[in-house]
Amino acid sequence: MLARALTHALVGLEPRRVDVEAHIRDGVPGFAIVGLADRACQEARERVRSGISAAALNFPTGRITVNLAPAELRKEGSGFDLPIALAVLGASQQLPRAALERTAAVGELALDGRLRRVGGVLAVAEGARRLGVERLLCPAESAQEAALAGVPAVPIHHLAEAVAYLRGELELEPQPVEIPNGNGAVSGPDLADVRGQERARRALELAAAGGHNLLLAGPPGTGKTMLARRLPGILPPLDAEAALEVTRIHSIAGLVDGNRPLVSLPPFRAPHHSASTAAIVGGGPHLRPGEASLAHHGVLLLDELAEFRRDALESLRQPLEDGFVSVARAAGRVVFPARFQLVGTMNLCPCGGRGDPGAQCSCSAQRLAHYRDKLSRALLDRFDLVVAMPRVRGEELATAGGEPSEPVRARVVAARELLAARPPKREASADDLLRNAVDRLHLSGRGHARVGRVARTIAALAASESVRAEHVAEALSYRSPDELRDV
Ligand SMILES: Nc1ncnc2c1ncn2[C@@H]1O[C@H](COP(=O)(O)OP(=O)(O)OP(=O)(O)O)[C@@H](O)[C@H]1O
Ligand SMILES: [Mg+2]
Repeated sequence: MLARALTHALVGLEPRRVDVEAHIRDGVPGFAIVGLADRACQEARERVRSGISAAALNFPTGRITVNLAPAELRKEGSGFDLPIALAVLGASQQLPRAALERTAAVGELALDGRLRRVGGVLAVAEGARRLGVERLLCPAESAQEAALAGVPAVPIHHLAEAVAYLRGELELEPQPVEIPNGNGAVSGPDLADVRGQERARRALELAAAGGHNLLLAGPPGTGKTMLARRLPGILPPLDAEAALEVTRIHSIAGLVDGNRPLVSLPPFRAPHHSASTAAIVGGGPHLRPGEASLAHHGVLLLDELAEFRRDALESLRQPLEDGFVSVARAAGRVVFPARFQLVGTMNLCPCGGRGDPGAQCSCSAQRLAHYRDKLSRALLDRFDLVVAMPRVRGEELATAGGEPSEPVRARVVAARELLAARPPKREASADDLLRNAVDRLHLSGRGHARVGRVARTIAALAASESVRAEHVAEALSYRSPDELRDV
């Protein structure tokens, strides 16, 4: 007897249809899964066997073969447990096979038959919607996430429940499809805590308004980390499409909250400097999205930039330019989106004394050279805004603190709207200034384009119709501050 259930495997973020076929024949009892199933997927045999017994159903006694088709597509993870169990139950006539035809299923089985959530349910549900199934059976915890895809998602707690539902013995309401509006409240530290550092605050606002990459450099304790962590608080919420894109990636990494699955605020990721290249850009045996993709439409903070492994830093060059990461696999390439804005912080030298009038730098020339070598020119070239932060003066520290995040965010939102609706155009004088600066400051072609973009952001923040020379001049001032020239 043959029965078939439907599910999807993911290639990167792309759902691919998988037919789970179960066949039972007489002979020595056995249970085999074929069709390029990885280890976790092979282990489904034990969970399915145990789950079926726990649901007070009969585990068939014959020779069971489960085929996951198409065979050339790699099947990873435990999400195939539920469709495998349903196909086996269909093949042993414990379920009407017709009910399986219009139904997709996903979820991991516990040994007692309960259903556990798995990563990537949103992308799987999107595959089910495209296929036009009538319903998706999924773990109850993931039902809200699946519903974001616009497919009727039936929340299942236990295998027995799924069986009763498909037999028509139990009524279950699909999760209502409601897309929450993207106005999640911003929480997190506020800019009001930061004293002084007017120039760095200005650069942070520009970075937020234009999505520019920002490097904050200076001696220890000047508020670099503090300021960088306040960037998410001045960014506008994600629009509906971006929110779904980010949620899809976070879902695969198992990071979404079952009760509020939609990620509606720009993500903020701050990996530790010991992170491997695979952790930063993705990859590894299970092909997970890396920090660069988890920061898609948000901020990637590399705190203590110069402490990161050089290969990890270099791996960011491609996504910084293209907005995606492409990971090579034996069977082709997988692409994850990675359009993030990069914020880096660093000291000016390994001992931290440089740039601090009250301290002596004790670094040897060799140590300093090694430190600089970590940051290739190519990487530094990708920072649109470079700010040297001086030590805060005592009188500044005694002040009440700066402008809070909320009004800054309002300006950022207004500037973004202007940039989207009518981006300011460069005046002739601004063009001249930029052209001269290319030779004087030895700007690369990329540097030229990036200064142009920053100047446009400055004009938009000033609600100016056009980009004037003064805007270009300010943009140029963030390109190569004197303090950093020899770093
Ligand atoms: N400009 C500032 N305004 C208010 N508090 C500040 C400022 N700068 C530093 N501080 C205080 O010092 C602490 C350390 O700041 P922060 O961690 O941002 O320093 P940093 O520049 O990142 O130093 P490091 O180079 O050692 O990482 C902050 O938690 C804050 O209490
Ligand atoms: Mg710091």
